[in-house]
Amino acid sequence: MAISNESTAATSEQSGAPKFYYPSEELAQNSNIMAYAREKGFSSFEELYQWTIQEPQQFWSDMATRFLEWYQPWNQVLDESNAPFFKWFTGGKINIVHNAVDRHVNGPNRDKTALIWESEQGESRRYTYGQLAEEVNRFANVLRSLGVQKGDIVTIYLSRVPELLFAMLATVKIGAMHSVVYGGFSIDALQARIVDAKSRVVITGDGGWMNNKIVELKKITDAAVDEAQGLVEKVLVVRRTGHDIAFNESRDVWYHELAAQPAMDEPCATEQMDAEDPMFLLYTSGSTGTPKGLVHSCGGYQVQVAATLSFTFDIKPDDVYWCTADPGWITGHSYIVYGPFILGATQVVYEGAPTYPNPGRWWEIAQKYGVTIQYTAPTAVRSLMRFGDEVPRQYDLSKLRLLGSVGEPINPEAWRWYYRVVGQERCPIMDTWWQTETGGFMIAPNPTTPLKPGSGTKPFLGIEADVLTEEGQPASGNDDGLLVIKRPWPAMLRTIHGDPQRYVDTYWSRLPGNYTAGDSARKDEDGYYWIIGRIDDVIKVSGYRLGTAEVESALVSHPAVAEAAAIGLPHELKGNAIHTYVILRQGHEPSDALADELRKHVGKELGPIARPETVNFVPNLPKTRSGKIMRRVLKARALGLPEGDLSTLEG
Ligand code: PRX
Repeated sequence: MAISNESTAATSEQSGAPKFYYPSEELAQNSNIMAYAREKGFSSFEELYQWTIQEPQQFWSDMATRFLEWYQPWNQVLDESNAPFFKWFTGGKINIVHNAVDRHVNGPNRDKTALIWESEQGESRRYTYGQLAEEVNRFANVLRSLGVQKGDIVTIYLSRVPELLFAMLATVKIGAMHSVVYGGFSIDALQARIVDAKSRVVITGDGGWMNNKIVELKKITDAAVDEAQGLVEKVLVVRRTGHDIAFNESRDVWYHELAAQPAMDEPCATEQMDAEDPMFLLYTSGSTGTPKGLVHSCGGYQVQVAATLSFTFDIKPDDVYWCTADPGWITGHSYIVYGPFILGATQVVYEGAPTYPNPGRWWEIAQKYGVTIQYTAPTAVRSLMRFGDEVPRQYDLSKLRLLGSVGEPINPEAWRWYYRVVGQERCPIMDTWWQTETGGFMIAPNPTTPLKPGSGTKPFLGIEADVLTEEGQPASGNDDGLLVIKRPWPAMLRTIHGDPQRYVDTYWSRLPGNYTAGDSARKDEDGYYWIIGRIDDVIKVSGYRLGTAEVESALVSHPAVAEAAAIGLPHELKGNAIHTYVILRQGHEPSDALADELRKHVGKELGPIARPETVNFVPNLPKTRSGKIMRRVLKARALGLPEGDLSTLEG
C-alpha cells in the first residue's frame, strides 16, 4: 500500500554496512533506564518494556513520583470515561515550574549551572539554578503587574535568548498559558495565532540576531497586533539588539524598565495547578489553512517529558546537554525549557545560525563547553556534512557520549556521518520519533538499543504503537501503513483549542480506538519502525512543519494570484521543499520577476521557512469534481510518476 504523501528518506539499508550499531556495554549497563529495570527486577529493556505494557498505569505512576514533586497526589492515574478526552493523574496538584526551577533553590543544584547561553556574536552568559529562579520570579512579577492571570494565554514571539525561557517559565509559574510563536514566523502566522488564542498580552523583542542580521521581531509584532482586531492591550518588549524601533507609548512596555522596579524581586508564589489544567498551547500546521492550537496539560506532560529525557538521553549530573532546537517548537518546549531543568541538568542554548561565522561554529561550541549530549535535526546534519569531515575534526569532541535526531527521517548516509565523524563511533544516536501532539518521545531507542541508521527503533516504555492498513488490520511483513498509537499516553495533547471536534476528527476517527499520527510507516522483521512521511497535506521542510493550505492562502493574498496549489518535493538538504503552481488573475502576465515577488510575498507573510522553491504559472490545476485540488496529481507529474486513479478528476 503506497499511502505516503512525502519523500522517502530512510527506508533502505546500504549493502555491506552493519545491520546493527551497538552501544557500548558500559553505557548500557550504567544507564538510567537499566538502573530502573534492575529496581523492578528485570535484566533487560525488553523485559521492562513488556511489564510497562501490561501495567502502564503502574509504570506511569512510578515515573510521576520518581522525577517529580506534587503538591497533592492524584486519585486516578488514567480516566478513560470520556474517551478520547483522556485525563491523567486526576485530583493531583502540581506546577512544572516548581519541579524545573523552585525546588532546586533549596537543594544541591542551587549553585549548579542550569543554562549556558551563547550569542551569535560570541557573548556567553551563565545562570545557576538559583539565578534562574530569580529571573523567572522577576519575570512572573512583571507579568502579574500587567494583569496576567491564571488561565490567560500569553503569546510569546522572541528569538533564542534566555528571556524566552524565562518568559515561558514565568507564564506557567503564575498559572497562565503560553503560546509561543517561533521567531522565524512572520506577520500572518503571528496574527492568526494571537487572534485564535485571544491574547491580551504579547511578549516580543526589539529584534533578534540570526546570521548576523537583525530579525525585526517588533516590526512584525506591530503589524500582527494592528491586524489582531484590537485584542492586544500590552506588548512587553525585551531589549536585545538595541536598534531603533517604533514604540507605541500606550501599548508597549520595556521589560527591562518594569523588571528594574524593586517590587519585582518580591517572591511570587507558584500557582498550584490541577494536573489536567491546560499548561500551554502550541500551534501546528494541519490539513487546513487554520493552524491548530494544541493544548497540553500541567500534569501528564511533565511526567512523560522527564521520564523520556532521563531514560533516552541518560542525563547524569555531570552531563552538558545541548538541544539545538528552538524553544518555539515542541522539541524546545519539552527538551530545552522543561525537561533538562526538571532533571537538574546543565544545558547549552545557542542563539544563532550553525554556520555563523564559519561552518565549525557548532563544534567549537561543543568543545568550548564540553558538551556530552547533542540533540539535533537531520537537516542540520546534512547541511554540516556538506562542509566535509575536516571541519568537526578540528575540534575536540571527545566529551560527547550520546547524540540525537528529531523532526524527520534521517537518511542513513547522514546518520552514519554524524555517528562516524561527530560521534567518533562512540556515541549512539537516539533517533526520536514524536510530534507536537505527543508532547514527548514515543518511538525512540535508549542506551541499551542496537541501532539501525534511519529507524527510530521501538516504542518507549508504556507506549504501544503499530502500523495498520486503512482497514485497521496490522500491515503485513514490510508493508507500509498508518502509524498508530494504541492507547493514551500522559503527554498527549488534550484537545485543539476552541475546536474539540477537530481533535476527535483529526486523530481518533480514521481508525477508531487508535490515535492516527498522520505518518506512514513500516515495521521490519525485528519490530523496528521506519517512518516514511506524512500522509496529510503537511510538508516537512528542514524539519519544520508547514501546511500546504497555509502556503496557498499566503499566495492567494497577493493581488496577482487567482488560485494556487503547493506540494512538497524531495530536496537534498531540506528533506522536502515547497513547490507551487499559480493561476494568475486577468491582467497579470507570468514573468520571472513576478515569480520572485510571489516567493518573497509568502516569505513575508508566513516566514522565510515557508518561501517556495519554485512558482510555476499554470493555466489550470487538476481538481476533483467537487473542486478540491488534487495535489498528488501535481506531485506525480513533477516526479514523472504515474498519476494514479484519476476517476475523480474534473472532466
Ligand atoms: O512526520 C513525523 C516527523 O515530524 C512530524 C511531527 O512534526 P512536529 O509536530 O513538528 O514535531 C517535530 C518534533 C517532535 C511527525 O509526524 N518526525 C518527527 N520526528 C521524526 C519524524 N520522522 C521520522 N523520524 C523522526 N525521528
